[in-house]
Amino acid sequence: MALIEFKDVSFQYPNGFSAVEHVSFSIEQGESIAIVGQNGAGKTTTVKMMNGLLKPTEGTVVVDGMDTRSFTAAQLSRKTGYVFQNPDDQIFHNTVGDEIRFGPQVLGFDREKTETLVKFAAQVTGLEKDMDENPYNLPLSIRKFVTIASVIAMDVDIFVLDEPTAGQDQYGIRTLETMLKILREKGKTIITITHDMEYVVNNFEKVMVMAHKNLLRVDHPRKIFMEDALLEESMLIPPYISSLVKDLGIKEDVFTQEEIIEYYLSRK
Ligand SMILES: Nc1ncnc2c1ncn2[C@@H]1O[C@H](COP(=O)(O)OP(=O)(O)OP(=O)(O)O)[C@@H](O)[C@H]1O
Ligand SMILES: [Mg+2]
Repeated sequence: MALIEFKDVSFQYPNGFSAVEHVSFSIEQGESIAIVGQNGAGKTTTVKMMNGLLKPTEGTVVVDGMDTRSFTAAQLSRKTGYVFQNPDDQIFHNTVGDEIRFGPQVLGFDREKTETLVKFAAQVTGLEKDMDENPYNLPLSIRKFVTIASVIAMDVDIFVLDEPTAGQDQYGIRTLETMLKILREKGKTIITITHDMEYVVNNFEKVMVMAHKNLLRVDHPRKIFMEDALLEESMLIPPYISSLVKDLGIKEDVFTQEEIIEYYLSRK
């Protein structure tokens, strides 16, 4: 059985606005998936249904055998951790350390387990030196890591990261890449919404493309970025290297900086 299963799921907000329509997909344990698509495509609405923050208004969402309609968000959040798109919707403590420690304390982990998890979470997000800072004295890109760390410290199996790449510099992207590898090695399942197509092609083998309230395609990024009609429909802009490769008339599949260097070296 899949770890996460959406069966013909639709969602309407209380004001009657329909944000997601008839979406079906499944995600297996240990997979790492990027969700991409234009603003308003329904990405955040979809992932909020993975930990019960939102319940489908039609269809079913099953997470690790639990139909989300039969469980509370508190119960489901032990399995799926959601990192909010806007960190300021999530942070409410005065120090980074207290913010990260809050989750494991609420879950009732003992002191030793809590401290081990807090230390690990701070390490992989690069926050060790900021533990006594007030999160609101830190830039938004670092506050995002505070919210990621507080979910890592809850030791969940499924991580849903809503736009972790937004506003990150090269250092932030590299931290995210290393963190992703470490969490994957631990067998975690990771779902990341992002607008950064370089990040997608460098780090993910599976991409879900959303547009107009629907899921258009689930595929390898290399297949997705080769399909002009799909890119046009979803208004996705492929990684800059693949546009450059097209402009240069190179016929091979070249998507990364390393590959373009290899391509030129192999022709010498
Ligand atoms: N609380 C709400 N009430 C009514 N409509 C909402 C609500 N939240 C979101 N929407 C609408 O639902 C649609 C999908 O929103 P959603 O946040 O899921 O999109 P998204 O793909 O995450 O976009 P973005 O890339 O901008 O974050 C949008 O048109 C949005 O305006
Ligand atoms: Mg969103």
